[in-house]
Amino acid sequence: PYLVVIHGPNLNRLGVRKPETYGRRTLADVIALVKSVADGYGLDVLDKQSNHEGDLIDFLQMHGPDAAGILINPGAFGHYSYGLRDCLEDIDRPTIEVHISNVHKREAFRHQLVLADVVMGQVVGLGTEGYRFAADALCRQYQHDAA
Ligand code: DQA
Repeated sequence: PYLVVIHGPNLNRLGVRKPETYGRRTLADVIALVKSVADGYGLDVLDKQSNHEGDLIDFLQMHGPDAAGILINPGAFGHYSYGLRDCLEDIDRPTIEVHISNVHKREAFRHQLVLADVVMGQVVGLGTEGYRFAADALCRQYQHDAA
């Protein structure tokens, strides 16, 4: 069993882009953090970062249906991608959306989160530590459902 971990546009720049907003952890650090949590529950991690909406949808269609859970930081796509939203609705697996920054404290265009009604929950504004909580919650949900 595995978790799918999705990162949207510009998140390949984690650790370098706006560290005062997104912190100093790199994408590799964040994936390692999620892996360490998943490992504790006997789950693998399948991760994908892309700057292209369609690549993320292709990956989710391929690997999402068999996932124990999905952790997604959609980046800016979270504010307007109905394509990603419809894809997650179609896949219908337990999904947690993570935003490193508190998007609600930022520009108005970041206040709308179009995946909100198709995810189990959101972790917003807790920095990259938010990934730890999201991964833990997904693993516990899986453990609970598998029992
Ligand atoms: C982000 C918030 C988005 O508004 C932004 O476009 C990002 C990162 C976050 O993790 O805080 O790329 O998803």
